[in-house]
Amino acid sequence: MKIIQSFLVLALSLVSHAVQADDDVAEGGQLYKTYCSACHGTEGGMDMSKRVAPPIIAVRMHYIGAYPDKTSFVAAVTNWVEKQDAGKTLMRGAIRKFNIMPPVSVTSDDAQKIASYIYEGNIDKPAGFDKHFEEMHGKRKMNPGM
Ligand code: HEC
Repeated sequence: MKIIQSFLVLALSLVSHAVQADDDVAEGGQLYKTYCSACHGTEGGMDMSKRVAPPIIAVRMHYIGAYPDKTSFVAAVTNWVEKQDAGKTLMRGAIRKFNIMPPVSVTSDDAQKIASYIYEGNIDKPAGFDKHFEEMHGKRKMNPGM
């Protein structure tokens, strides 16, 4: 009986953990719209002369390449949002093209939720992104998680 009880407690806590993670991704999506999509959204499409920042799908791909697991991905993106440090960039070409990202005022907690959303949420990509990516980076296999 005791074993069944502790099993139930464990199962419940696993479920609530998963629900919590889903909530963070959903909330992160809303926060992303508020704080990031003006620059990283689909406006301007793939015409970089009409954009002010790389599309968020490009950011995801660069960060997943360097940080495949969620914990380190979220930490790296959160660090960047808290402090833009050119010495830690994964997107040197984007800094050259757009200049370094200006500071954004979000709490560390919100930045983590946004980062979870960028990692595993249903983020958008401008029309033509896949073609551009192939031309830029060849037909190499996309990173796991894509
Ligand atoms: C005012 C426009 C603007 C806003 C708002 C903005 N960004 Fe950026 N972001 C940029 C630009 C421009 C770059 C490309 C240059 C660079 O990497 O610094 C960039 C690059 C990045 C990078 C890659 C950094 C690197 O060089 O490795 C990450 C990660 C990122 N943004 C996350 C976010 C997140 C998350 C938000 C919302 C909390 C956000 N950005 C809001 C303009 C913006």
